[in-house]
Amino acid sequence: SPYNSQRRHASKHRFFVVELSQALFDFVIRLLPTQEEMAVKEDVRKLLERLIRTIEPDSRLLSFGSTANGFSLRNSDMDLCCLIDSAERLSASDMVTMLGDLLERETKFHVKPLPHARIPIVKLSLDPSPGLPHGIACDIGFENRLALENTRLLMCYAMIDPTRVRTLVLFLKVWSKRRNINSPYKGTLSSYGYVLLVIYFLIHVKNPPVLPNLQQMPPLRPISQEDTHIGGHNTWSVLLAFIAREASLTPRCRFFDDIELLRQRWQSSNTDSVADLLIDFFRYYSRDFTYNTGVASIRGGLLKKDSKGWQNELAASRYNDSRERNRFCIEDPFEIDFNVARCVTKEGLYQIRGEFMRASRILAMRPRALVTLAQLCEE
Ligand code: GTP
Ligand code: MG
Repeated sequence: SPYNSQRRHASKHRFFVVELSQALFDFVIRLLPTQEEMAVKEDVRKLLERLIRTIEPDSRLLSFGSTANGFSLRNSDMDLCCLIDSAERLSASDMVTMLGDLLERETKFHVKPLPHARIPIVKLSLDPSPGLPHGIACDIGFENRLALENTRLLMCYAMIDPTRVRTLVLFLKVWSKRRNINSPYKGTLSSYGYVLLVIYFLIHVKNPPVLPNLQQMPPLRPISQEDTHIGGHNTWSVLLAFIAREASLTPRCRFFDDIELLRQRWQSSNTDSVADLLIDFFRYYSRDFTYNTGVASIRGGLLKKDSKGWQNELAASRYNDSRERNRFCIEDPFEIDFNVARCVTKEGLYQIRGEFMRASRILAMRPRALVTLAQLCEE
């Protein structure tokens, strides 16, 4: 009967989803950096910090990007940021030149200073060796405080629901790299862009949401008798104090970062498995996201290109280069005038959307989970 066939269909789907979720965990776990790798990277950071301090004694060298936000894959490169705490510091491009010279003299790194880039950096790399089979690649920038803050924001999102958020993000990073749609230099999207797409989807598309919006106050459980009396420790008042403090500050980078408190007070009522979320993610970005008019903003939800002045009406003119800049729009969480997907070209977007559709198609066929993953990430 049609009823039975519907039930068989549903139970086959459940089976596929359970199997796929497990396969996703296993897949991602094998790609995490090892303890040794993390230790070596930390040693490299300390060594570089010591050297930089011979130029600027009041400086600190901090990790950002994937090494610091919980979305690191094996052999991913290191993003480092140097903060200088003294009043009369050298300019970033002078620092890049000086540090480049110093590292060339004192270390075995291949050194490439880029003092005149939009964001001046020193690029470093180490060749593979028996102890470090993949070598190391590292960029050092200066005073990039916003990058440190957005790293912290992403880390907080990773911590709220580590299993689902990290599995999804890590899988999509591998997938986008293997499918060749993860290079802003070639007109596609950075890892940072993909992470924002995932978080946007989990906050603003899924209903009920998987993540709260840390840049707006999260909807915490209302106060109850228990909260005020038990243990004499009233987290609700801590929260009110937090709101008051934040309201008086309102700097552009504020967000709710007390993840411990949040975990006590807020729990997502969304119980989708990782596989459910992945299937919906691909469906949403292949079918529903309004690429022509929409801006994905983890801070504000789905915004309009018009309202941000990012429309490409003038796109008809091929002399207007803003057209290439705003094909695909993802708002940076803190630099809200900045389109994280500005490098995505017409061809790049076509390729990215094609890949979302391909992934959706493969998932809809529901072969065995391992076959699905292999097919999805085929190089
Ligand atoms: P992999 O290097 O691919 O492992 O990924 P990743 O997580 O390190 O991401 P990516 O290299 O794309 O970016 C590293 C960090 O640089 C991000 O966490 C951001 O802090 C910062 N960043 C990268 N791209 C942008 C951008 O377009 N705008 C801003 N504001 N920050 C960016
Ligand atoms: Mg990186």
